[in-house]
Amino acid sequence: MNNDECVVSDTDSVLLLINKQNRLDESYVPRDLIVPNIPFSFRGYNDKKLVRYEVALALQELFAYANIDSVRLYAVSGYRSYNRQKTIFNRNVNKYGYEKANEFSARAGESEHQTGLAMDVSSRVVNMELVESFGDTKEGKWLVDNAYKAGFIIRYPKDKMDITGYQYEPWHIRYVGLKVAKIIADNDITLEEYIQGVI
Ligand code: DAL
Ligand code: ZN
Repeated sequence: MNNDECVVSDTDSVLLLINKQNRLDESYVPRDLIVPNIPFSFRGYNDKKLVRYEVALALQELFAYANIDSVRLYAVSGYRSYNRQKTIFNRNVNKYGYEKANEFSARAGESEHQTGLAMDVSSRVVNMELVESFGDTKEGKWLVDNAYKAGFIIRYPKDKMDITGYQYEPWHIRYVGLKVAKIIADNDITLEEYIQGVI
């Protein structure tokens, strides 16, 4: 760990900031993980269906809003343990090299997926894949316009890599609660900027 990195201690907060500077301990597992009642891109149980309780309720609300607008979203990947993230990151490093991999894949301890506050979503038109073109789909655009109504933000917007540390990910939504999600959406800022108090 570098000197400018720290291990976060207030892990209960839904405003928990996890990024390349603020990491979770290896032992951290959210205490209230549950499978939300929403459509997934795959069948059967997998830990990656899990999110924290409050997030599960909010996802159910978000997917219900989407259905009202005839937008069919599918959940792809939620909670990931520290060790699972380590395996994924190492696989990406072997394939793309360390620096390139870390532009789209978090090191273990630095992934929001370990918080249980994030979910990757996709749609049929992009074959349920987590690809940039999801942002150009009806479903991806709906998400930008409506995620805040259930307390979610698009965590890694386009052209904000200098702030978030990661490439554009139109599929990665992060729960922050209704009030903060609206402020972030209205002001077109990132969670980092909100927490730094730029507005
Ligand atoms: N793709 C995001 C940055 C993660 O690996 O958590
Ligand atoms: Zn994600």
